[in-house]
Parts: sequence; C-alpha cells; structure tokens
Amino acid sequence: MPPSYDFHFFVCQNERPSNHPRGCCLSKGSDKLLNYMKARVKELGIQNIRINKAGCMDQCEKGPAMVTYPEGIWYSPKTSEDVDEIINSHILKKCPPKRLLME
Ligand code: FES
Repeated sequence: MPPSYDFHFFVCQNERPSNHPRGCCLSKGSDKLLNYMKARVKELGIQNIRINKAGCMDQCEKGPAMVTYPEGIWYSPKTSEDVDEIINSHILKKCPPKRLLME
C-alpha cells in the first residue's frame, strides 16, 4: 500500500539562466526555504509529512513556488519567517495563512 502523508509539500528547485524572461525559483532562494522547512519540521518533531524538491511547476513569475497536497494549496513564501508561518498555521493549526497564498 502506498504511503499516505498528512501533508506533502513540493518546493520548486528549478534553475534557469539569469537572463531568462521567466526567471526561476532557485534564484529567489527556494533551496534555502526548502532546507529551512525540512530542518524546522524535524526540529519540531512533526510526523507523517514529506517535503520534496520539485521541478518547474509553471508558476515561475510567482515563485518561489510551493504546493501542498492533498489540499492543493499554493504558496509563495519569500523568507524563513514565511516558512515558519506556513508550519505554524497550515501544518500545526490546520489554518492556511492567507497572506502567503499564491495569487
Ligand atoms: S521555476 Fe519554479 S515554478 Fe517555474
């Protein structure tokens, strides 16, 4: 039977040349956000969650792009404080923080 996580986050790690018209999430620090989120979730002892690297999810201009399933909620976190808010509100309180939702 395949695993069933309470939360499954994907964070875009796509990189493009600096002159690419669409930009990319990696140039906006998505690698640091991913690593920070993984570390904080581990520190907090949150179980039954996966946080995975993703390729381009076609939301480049709005990135760093993050999406979580099964809810299908998209975020555009910019800082580690934004990631903390997603962890505290979305994961721990089951209340997605509206200000970080992708437009
Ligand atoms: S580069 Fe991240 S969504 Fe396209």
